[in-house]
Amino acid sequence: MYASEPEWRAVDRYFAGLLVSEDEALIAARRSSPQTTMSNADVAPNQGKLLALLGQLTGATRVLEFGTLAGYSTIWLARAVGPHGHVTTLELEEQNAAIARANLARAGVSQLVDVIVGPAQDSADQLIADDVDPFDLVFIDADKPNNPAYLQASLALTHPGSVIVIDNVVRDGAVTDPSSSDPRVQGVRAVVADIAQDPRLDATALQTVGVKGWDGFTLIRRSS
Ligand code: DHB
Ligand code: MG
Repeated sequence: MYASEPEWRAVDRYFAGLLVSEDEALIAARRSSPQTTMSNADVAPNQGKLLALLGQLTGATRVLEFGTLAGYSTIWLARAVGPHGHVTTLELEEQNAAIARANLARAGVSQLVDVIVGPAQDSADQLIADDVDPFDLVFIDADKPNNPAYLQASLALTHPGSVIVIDNVVRDGAVTDPSSSDPRVQGVRAVVADIAQDPRLDATALQTVGVKGWDGFTLIRRSS
């Protein structure tokens, strides 16, 4: 999404070349990004691997994702939860969901993933109403103005010890501007303020540079 310096890209490619192996299905999912309604908003390969490692480090078997697009991160997460795990991913657009379903099938993980189409808040409210089992790991990566609402929904759908990751919290450094007129920046600032004042949540945030430009993520652990 953001301008990426050649040196940042070279470093990402160096590490990814040695440490992050993408099979045909992941490559195909990544390459299908331009067919979605938001081209290039998928996570980078090294970020997808980070999500998978977080899933494995925490022993997550139930994962919830806000924002599917082509399903690139979904594939990483589905492979991390293993054959007895489950990923529920929420996608606004049927067009994107159809692309994601094809990518998930190619990756051999369709049986592990539910793609739910509609406004993510409505889908999350339905999961809450259905009293589904709590999720161990949540990846919030959808429309940024709704980040605060997605965090609250996540708190209704997780357990103490669950981990929540929020993507795109730096946005070329715009996050530090309190008077930003960008509702996406305000969505990030609002959710960070909510995290800061919630005694149940321990969090940090890291800025990243790489093939996706200058951005970052928030990592949260729910302690109670
Ligand atoms: C945007 C959203 C994303 O999820 C992303 O990874 C990059 C950019 C955006 O809304 O601009
Ligand atoms: Mg993102």
